[in-house]
Amino acid sequence: MVIALHGTYGEDGAVQGLLEVMGLPYTGSGVAASAICMDKAISKRLFADGGLPTPPWRELRIDDPAHAPDHIDGLSFPLFIKPLANGSSVGVSRANDADGLKQALAAAAEVSPRVLAEQAITGRELTLTILDGEALPLIEIRPKEGFYDYRNKYTKGCTEYLIPPPGLDEAVARRVGEIGVAAYHALGCHGLARVDFMLDADDAPWLLEANTIPGLTELSLAPQSAAAAGIPFDELAERILASAWSRA
Ligand SMILES: Nc1ncnc2c1ncn2[C@@H]1O[C@H](COP(=O)(O)OP(=O)(O)O)[C@@H](O)[C@H]1O
Ligand SMILES: [Mg+2]
Repeated sequence: MVIALHGTYGEDGAVQGLLEVMGLPYTGSGVAASAICMDKAISKRLFADGGLPTPPWRELRIDDPAHAPDHIDGLSFPLFIKPLANGSSVGVSRANDADGLKQALAAAAEVSPRVLAEQAITGRELTLTILDGEALPLIEIRPKEGFYDYRNKYTKGCTEYLIPPPGLDEAVARRVGEIGVAAYHALGCHGLARVDFMLDADDAPWLLEANTIPGLTELSLAPQSAAAAGIPFDELAERILASAWSRA
């Protein structure tokens, strides 16, 4: 089966488990990796366990007043507040101060009672496509305004995508590739995946999250990255299919 689904049930291990029980091979990551990548906090714990750089964070439970928002001690503004499980930047916002934090927590809580407060990294945003454990060319994501939120992700013209990231030091690009591939393995990913990064002012890379079902439309990032590596779309599709058999 080719899984082309996003979010709950499709991307979080549920459909993967169903296919597993039915004995049908399927594309992409297995049950555990799919569930882990859907949970940003568990992903970050695995990054940290593996010695991989991810911005400092706290996990909050909005429905437990004993927990939030005092639980951000040790972090300083600006922060990113996000629901633990979701995607497409839904419920994600940047908080610059205590007032902003209140608003950001309320927005995230609409999506999930479990929320992540993460130190903001100010700098360039990069995404690394990984196919069968191999890093493909990096893409820089440059929203014209603000961060890569829902609007900037899905409105044409709001964000520039640059392959390769202009002027990026080769050693930095190599390091991002190594960290990304290590993250892919730490999370147990399979087949195609995409790992999101921020670079800080010193060009040090920080892992944000991994996506186990990257978009595959004409405008999506993974196919562009594959094309830059000389892998046309039909070959990418074949390799994704082959990954289903290699696990089965
Ligand atoms: N710690 C952070 N520092 C700076 N920007 C961030 C941080 N966390 C998230 N962002 C911004 O928010 C966007 C969405 O966050 P992300 O963790 O990738 O969640 P999603 O699963 O919704 O894509 C990122 O692409 C980035 O632009
Ligand atoms: Mg993301």
